[in-house]
Amino acid sequence: MPLDVIVLAAGQGKRMRSALPKVLHPLGGRPLLAYVLDTARELGARRTIVVHGHGAEAVRAGFADTDVQWVLQAEQLGTGHAVQQALPLIGSDAQVLILYGDVPLVRLATLRQLLEAAGDGVAITTAELDDPRGYGRIVRKAGRVERIVEEKDASSAERGIREINAGLMALPGRRLGGWLGAIGNRNAQKEYYLTDVVTLALRDGVTINAVKVDDAIEVAGVNSKRELALLERELQRRHAERLLEDGVTLIDPARIDVRGTLECAADVTIDVNCVFEGHVRLGERVRVGANCVLRNITVGANTELLPFCHLEDSQIGARCRLGPYSRLRPGVSLADEVHIGNFVELKASRVGAGSKANHLSYIGDSELGARVNVGAGTITCNYDGAAKHRTVIEDDCFIGSDTTLVAPVRVAKGSYIGAGSTINKDTPAGQLTLARARQVSIPGWKPPKKS
Ligand code: UD1
Ligand code: CA
Repeated sequence: MPLDVIVLAAGQGKRMRSALPKVLHPLGGRPLLAYVLDTARELGARRTIVVHGHGAEAVRAGFADTDVQWVLQAEQLGTGHAVQQALPLIGSDAQVLILYGDVPLVRLATLRQLLEAAGDGVAITTAELDDPRGYGRIVRKAGRVERIVEEKDASSAERGIREINAGLMALPGRRLGGWLGAIGNRNAQKEYYLTDVVTLALRDGVTINAVKVDDAIEVAGVNSKRELALLERELQRRHAERLLEDGVTLIDPARIDVRGTLECAADVTIDVNCVFEGHVRLGERVRVGANCVLRNITVGANTELLPFCHLEDSQIGARCRLGPYSRLRPGVSLADEVHIGNFVELKASRVGAGSKANHLSYIGDSELGARVNVGAGTITCNYDGAAKHRTVIEDDCFIGSDTTLVAPVRVAKGSYIGAGSTINKDTPAGQLTLARARQVSIPGWKPPKKS
C-alpha cells in the first residue's frame, strides 16, 4: 500500500508568544517542521501534504525547495477539519499517516510500528502520563479502545485516565472521506475533532489498534518556549548519546550543542560548551577546546583547536593548531601544519603548509604560500572603499610585525618585510624590503616646560 502523509501545521501556537509561525521555530538549528518532513521522507511516503494556515507564506517560503504539497486551512476549525482540507489529494489506495508539524522527535521505529498495527484499519498512538492534563484521553472497554474524549468534554472520571492520545494516527485512505464527512462539531470547543473517527470506525466494524509509546518525549508537542527548550535538551541528549557510542570523548555530554550534523573519525575529543552548526567533519584525533563554535567546517587529522575559536565555512588541514580566539570567516582553506593564533581573523584566503600567523592579524582575500611567517599585527588592506583586492604572499616569506599590505600586492618568494612597513608595491624575491620612516633622535632636545 502506498503511504500518503498529512502533516497538520495550521495552528498558530499562541503560547509561543512569537511572531514566527510555530513550525518555523528552530530545534537543533532547524525548523520543527523540517524534522517531520524528514520523517515522512524516511518512511518512503508517496506524497506529503502539509496543512498550513497561520503564517502560511512564511511557512511555505521556509520550505520552498521541498516537494511537499501545500493545503491551506484558512480557519482552524479543528484537527478533523484540517485533515479534510487534504482529502482531495489523498489516494483511496493509500495508507494515510497523520503527523503533527509541532511533534518533531517521534522515532521512525514507532511510526513503522503504528503503520503495521493499522494494516488496512486504524491505529492510534498513546502514552501513559503522570500528568495527562490538556490531552485527549483514551477510553477503553474490556481493554479495547472505545473512543477518545477531549479534556474539555471529559467527565471527571475520564479526566482521571492517564492514557492519552498522542495524536499521530494511521488510517485507510478509502474510508477516510466517509468518516471525516460524518464528524460534527457539537462539543465543548465547537471543533471538528479528528479523534471522532475512532467512534465512526468502530461503528463500521473496524478495529482500533493502539501503539503505546514508552518514552513520552517522542510524542511531545511544542506549545511553548518551555516545551521547545525541553525538546532541545532531548535532541542534544540524543546527539551526545550517538557521539559517545561512536567513540567520541565528550568531556561533558550535557554541554555540547549540535545544530546540524557532526561527523567524527576515531579518537576525537570535544571539551565543554562547543556548538556545531551545519555540517562539521572532524578527522582522527582532532581535539576541540572549550567554547568553540564551528559552522560548516572540515578539520584534518591531529589538528588541535584551542578554546574560543569561531570558525565558519572553511577547511582546515591536518596537524594544524588554531586558537585560542581564532576566527575563520567563510572561504578559508588551511593546508597542513598551519598555526593560527589569538585574535587572528582570516577571510576568503588560502594558507599553505607550515605557515603561521600567531597574533593579532587580519588576512582577507589572500593567498599565502608554504612556510610563511606572518608577524604580529599584520593587516592585509583588501578593501579600498569600493572594491576588494587580493594579496599574494609566496612561499618562505617573513612578514615583520605590524606590516600593512595594501592590496593588490604580491610579496615574492622568500621576501623579508621589515617590521612596521606599509607595502603597496610588489616586492622582489629573496630581498629585505622596508617601507617605513627612518628612525631619528634629536640631539639636545628638551621636554617642554610647564608655565
Ligand atoms: C489534539 C487531539 C488530542 C491529543 C493532542 C495531542 C484532537 C481533537 N485532539 O489536541 O486528543 O491529545 O492533539 O497533542 O485531535 N491543527 C491544524 N488545524 C486545526 C487544528 C489543529 O492544523 O484546525 C494542528 C495544529 O497546528 C497541531 C495539531 O493539529 O499541529 C494538533 O493541534 P492542537 O490544537 O495542538 O491539538 P489539541 O486540540 O490540543
Ligand atoms: Ca497540542
